[in-house]
Amino acid sequence: MTCKMAVFGTGYLGATHAACMAELGHEVLGVDVDVDKLARLEAGEVPFFEPGLDEVLKRNIDAGRLRFTTSYEEAAEFADIHFIGVGTPQKKGEFAADLSYVEAVVDSLAPLLTRPAVIFGKSTVPVGTAARLGARARQLAPAGDEVEVAWNPEFLREGFAVKDTLHPDRIVLGIDPVRSHRAEDVAREVYAQQLQEDTPFLVTDLATAELVKTAANAFLATKISFINAMAEVCEASSADVTVLADAIGHDARIGRRFLNAGIGFGGGCLPKDIRAFMARAGELGADQALTFLREVDNINMRRRTRMVELAKDAVGGSLLGTRIAVLGAAFKPDSDDVRDSPALNVAGQIQLQGAAVTVYDPQAMKNSMALFPTLSYASSAVEACRGADVVLVLTEWNEFRQIVPQALGNVVRNKHVIDGRNCLDPAAWRTAGWTYRGMGRL
Ligand code: UGA
Repeated sequence: MTCKMAVFGTGYLGATHAACMAELGHEVLGVDVDVDKLARLEAGEVPFFEPGLDEVLKRNIDAGRLRFTTSYEEAAEFADIHFIGVGTPQKKGEFAADLSYVEAVVDSLAPLLTRPAVIFGKSTVPVGTAARLGARARQLAPAGDEVEVAWNPEFLREGFAVKDTLHPDRIVLGIDPVRSHRAEDVAREVYAQQLQEDTPFLVTDLATAELVKTAANAFLATKISFINAMAEVCEASSADVTVLADAIGHDARIGRRFLNAGIGFGGGCLPKDIRAFMARAGELGADQALTFLREVDNINMRRRTRMVELAKDAVGGSLLGTRIAVLGAAFKPDSDDVRDSPALNVAGQIQLQGAAVTVYDPQAMKNSMALFPTLSYASSAVEACRGADVVLVLTEWNEFRQIVPQALGNVVRNKHVIDGRNCLDPAAWRTAGWTYRGMGRL
């Protein structure tokens, strides 16, 4: 069955959700206040790098199932199903999440709701937000109690956003068990195709749904910091964390995924989500429960410093006057996202210590230049490495895994490579005459 829906916010989450809902056959209106972004989307252009999303976007615009607007009036007139997909960034100078964009959507939309409607929140929010927004929507809407707020967290990964939206691991829906009449039925219609594919569908209360999302990201962050803590011990004892991860990963209770040691996690989600989680637990008087997340954050940040130390060691103790090549700027491969990117953070720290740093990334050049205009940028990996004293591989793009060490050896000044993502074959580089250093392995 075809549903009509509006999706508020056309960033990573919103644009992907809108395009994928249209792909499922629904009629979708994407809403944003950013006129330039909407113009690009209307022209079938995705404003960020996400494999496969542009085809889905174009196909559904052409089919007439997907449109965009700045008008909340149009959205309220068009649909009775509304998704909130705007950002919840970290507040400046605080750990807590900035909810102003989510609140603005409810405050602008609710007064226009004259018919029964369901608002599904998808943004990552501190527990308690959905209940508060529900009360606000009912108070502001002419349709009053006929307006429901439900929470339907999103678990998509950048780089796999289309697949994760069309074929999610699970669908979680938080509803108000006392007031909700329609949200579950509407969600079953919206996600009919996924439910037919036997995707687990968990209906919970609002608070649990909000917490599922934060807990999942906190667990993933903890897993990465756990293996990075093991990397520190491996470094101190000449052991190899990659072999250790393979070995413990065979235990199905542990699992090998998200056990890659390196320069740690970054991006627009894990770092800010664990901080917002700590802040919220503090407000709730449960701060002790999450003090370990502060250590997770600390371990993660220490990886960046460790990489700077390794680079310094490789050039004989001082970075002053050296030339450093940085391969990778995105926070992870198959993304052009540089928000809280460990790679760019390391590049910036090294430059501040007096080195000339040249960065290359297959997709994230434009975003990197905007964020770190003082770094030098090259148009290819080879150009970035020309004359370098050390080559740092900081994002595990396939393009870097496939570099032929012999060929790169001809352009650098000194054949030192440091593998910040443990993604290269140490033997191949050493055979080609390079000094190879990994993270948590020799
Ligand atoms: C993360 C979660 O994985 C998604 O499930 C979630 O929906 C999303 O946040 C969100 O909240 O919106 P994402 O930020 O796209 O997704 O990136 P991840 O794939 O989780 O990677 C995060 C960081 O961890 C990257 O910097 C990556 O390089 C690093 N990482 C990942 C490691 O250092 N080691 C690993 O083993 C895995």
